[in-house]
Amino acid sequence: MTKRLFVVFSFLVIASMLLAACGPSGAAGGDTIKVAILAPLSGPVPTFGVSTRDGILLAIEEWNAKGGVLGKQIEAIVADSQCTADPAVNAANKVIDQDQVHYIIGEVCSSASIPVSEIAEQKGVVQISPTSTNPSVTLNPDGSTKQYIFRACFIDPFQGLVMAKFALSQGKKTAFIMYDKGNDYVLGLAEAFKESFTSGGGTIVGEEAYTGQDTDFSSILTKVAESKADVLFLPDYYNIVNLVATQAKERGVTSTIMGGDGWDSSDLDLAAADGGFFSNHYSAEDTRPIVQDFVKNYSAKYKDENGNPKIPDALATLGYDAANLLLAAIEKAGVDDPAAVKDALAALQYDAVSGTITFDAQHNPIKSAAIMQIKDGKVVFADSIAP
Ligand code: PHE
Repeated sequence: MTKRLFVVFSFLVIASMLLAACGPSGAAGGDTIKVAILAPLSGPVPTFGVSTRDGILLAIEEWNAKGGVLGKQIEAIVADSQCTADPAVNAANKVIDQDQVHYIIGEVCSSASIPVSEIAEQKGVVQISPTSTNPSVTLNPDGSTKQYIFRACFIDPFQGLVMAKFALSQGKKTAFIMYDKGNDYVLGLAEAFKESFTSGGGTIVGEEAYTGQDTDFSSILTKVAESKADVLFLPDYYNIVNLVATQAKERGVTSTIMGGDGWDSSDLDLAAADGGFFSNHYSAEDTRPIVQDFVKNYSAKYKDENGNPKIPDALATLGYDAANLLLAAIEKAGVDDPAAVKDALAALQYDAVSGTITFDAQHNPIKSAAIMQIKDGKVVFADSIAP
């Protein structure tokens, strides 16, 4: 090779390496900031996925209308992660490896967010779950905090304490607990309720496990009826609550049924769950202007199947809050670099719809819980409990 040819050749090699480093999509120098949304749009709890996605998209739309973040428009990449570990892991690998996102909002369900968090932490991708309340989402098995993982919601030990305190304050002295033994969220919340209820002076008179595939709960419910427990604690998602609450009525169960945020769905069977209570992250009846503005904007954008404005549930609200937290942290970091953004998030204070958020050392926000009651075909605000 002549000297001149060698120079030209070297130049071409370096130029192609530079091009490859910039990447075809999304890496440094891309035109947009990509944000992945991992949400259960199909599977057992589709209302969770739709609400979460819609809340996130509203926030992104508002930021884009104001000029985006770091001078770039925000591009949402939506993946259906089904509230289940394997599809969620596949979705996470796809958005990280193929789409080259630096940021993930999701999953909704703890059993899906926990395995995703291990991948995001290892690959240095910032993950913020809007709604996953199990402590392990942000913690390593040794109890240390995962550096890249955050959430926009409170955690289950608090939620369990809130419901136990509320039950005791209502004069309830005995409780029967039913739980899905394969669901991290259900297991953790059942455990938290049990601890707080007994340490507050209550008695657990029965505990029965089932699986997420079960549809007939009659043998357990016969035991619940015989126990005459004041409370049936059922910390599962709405699809299971609908089945159990319906069958409980048929079996003559008189216990007040109580649960957690997993009840929050437009598909909760209000007739079956009548008289029940659950803890939640927010109430659309909250009169703070930030809440009412959000309710107004969300209802203007999204309609139900009959064309009526949708009222945002807690999932929509936390999706909206999680997106705002992430984008505010990117802006504060001043650079599209997850290592800098995770530090900005950890130090952020942000006025969100679900409350003013700062993160504790375990990347959990400290926030109040709302207690909701199902009464006369409606879900109404019953109480608010501060940490
Ligand atoms: N907290 C639930 C979980 O961790 C998810 C959830 C949040 C569902 C809010 C409904 C409403 O799995």
